[in-house]
Amino acid sequence: MDSNTWALLADLHIAAKRTKAARGVVMADNLTAVVRDLTALPTLPSAVLIAGDCSFGEGEADDYATLGDLLQPLRSAGMTLHFMTGNHDNRDNLRAAFGIRAGEGTKFGRHVAVVQTPLANWFLLDSLDPKIAVAGRLGDAQRAWLAAALDAHAQKPAILVAHHYLDDGVGKQPLQDTKEFLEIIVSRKQVKAFIYGHSHDWKVSRHASGIHLINLPPVGYVFSAGKPAGWVLATMQADGIRLQLKCVDRNHPMHGQVVPLEWRRE
Ligand SMILES: [Fe+2]
Repeated sequence: MDSNTWALLADLHIAAKRTKAARGVVMADNLTAVVRDLTALPTLPSAVLIAGDCSFGEGEADDYATLGDLLQPLRSAGMTLHFMTGNHDNRDNLRAAFGIRAGEGTKFGRHVAVVQTPLANWFLLDSLDPKIAVAGRLGDAQRAWLAAALDAHAQKPAILVAHHYLDDGVGKQPLQDTKEFLEIIVSRKQVKAFIYGHSHDWKVSRHASGIHLINLPPVGYVFSAGKPAGWVLATMQADGIRLQLKCVDRNHPMHGQVVPLEWRRE
């Protein structure tokens, strides 16, 4: 097991019924394939991050019961699971199903965590705001907490994760407090990357500040034909991170794509 390697998953969309299909995909089958791939790796990642939209519907307890069953092989293999909320999740039901581990807490009604690893600190944010439905919002209290937490953990590269993407004027359901979020992270040079899901569209780009923007692929279904469904194997390094795309369809032309990223300088 390698504490510098994490598996990054998003948009699982698991329903209570394992046979549930959407957009031509049985989501439980996709997750089962991902779990099989993960447990077959020669060196296991220490953690599996699930960056929101765990549920198909609105975060019903039955969805999470099925999700827990499907993920059990990862737990049995000793990997730590980090669950995050998306707009299809219910915070209370997610917490009831999977609990809160040491180092994680429910602050200001949100589910956030700072997870320290040898080469980077991970800040797991909670962008679910049921009042605004599909778009997301961190909110004043979480942003204040984040600023303080970043200042308290300034010595190592910081990797931030939330379900929703930044508002770049293109995506229709973004993080509504993108401007305020950027004000916190751009000036704090330890912030090296922002990872998110929500768009069901794998892509890696870079903000003008040098912060890497990593849009995870969906484990479940894609929104446009030909896009990859799958997950990302992330290996932290002293000065960056190496991403490898793992497609559910091993014949997908992008399966195995490696994206090496170097951190912006202080
Ligand atoms: Fe989603």
